[in-house]
Amino acid sequence: MKLPITITVNDEVWPLDVEPNEVLLDVLRTMVGAKSVKIGCERGDCGTCTILLDGHTVRSCLMLAVEADGHGITTVEGIPENGVLSSLQDLFIRQNSFQCGFCAPGIVLGAHELLRDNPSPTRHDVQHALAGNLCRCTGYEPIIEAVLEAAEGGPQ
Ligand code: FES
Ligand code: FES
Repeated sequence: MKLPITITVNDEVWPLDVEPNEVLLDVLRTMVGAKSVKIGCERGDCGTCTILLDGHTVRSCLMLAVEADGHGITTVEGIPENGVLSSLQDLFIRQNSFQCGFCAPGIVLGAHELLRDNPSPTRHDVQHALAGNLCRCTGYEPIIEAVLEAAEGGPQ
């Protein structure tokens, strides 16, 4: 039996009927069409399914959709304001921080949360904040450098 839930994704309200055991990651991709929320390990290890739930990073593969009822979700598409990329996103692009980009949505959201809560992070802070986001391409250094430069550049 399906259950009615209402979630808000990037400021858009979505009334949905979901199975009690449906995972939020799958609902976001199949019902909402949020394909930037990637399917990786599906067990909380890789971080590629990261979303912001009421402003805080969450692994959407570890959460049931019914648990998100009434909550606000931000995916990477919700980070730009009025269609303008944040300075963090701009730096990721200018520094070629990513290669295949599969990890990028989760890392952008994790770094966004970090800089919002700690505008002057140390290298260790950045490493700690992004420790749960696996990247198989870059060795992490261009990602960390972009976050540190974004921090020096002021508010995101
Ligand atoms: Fe969710 Fe890997 S798919 S943490
Ligand atoms: Fe390929 Fe990170 S850029 S996984």
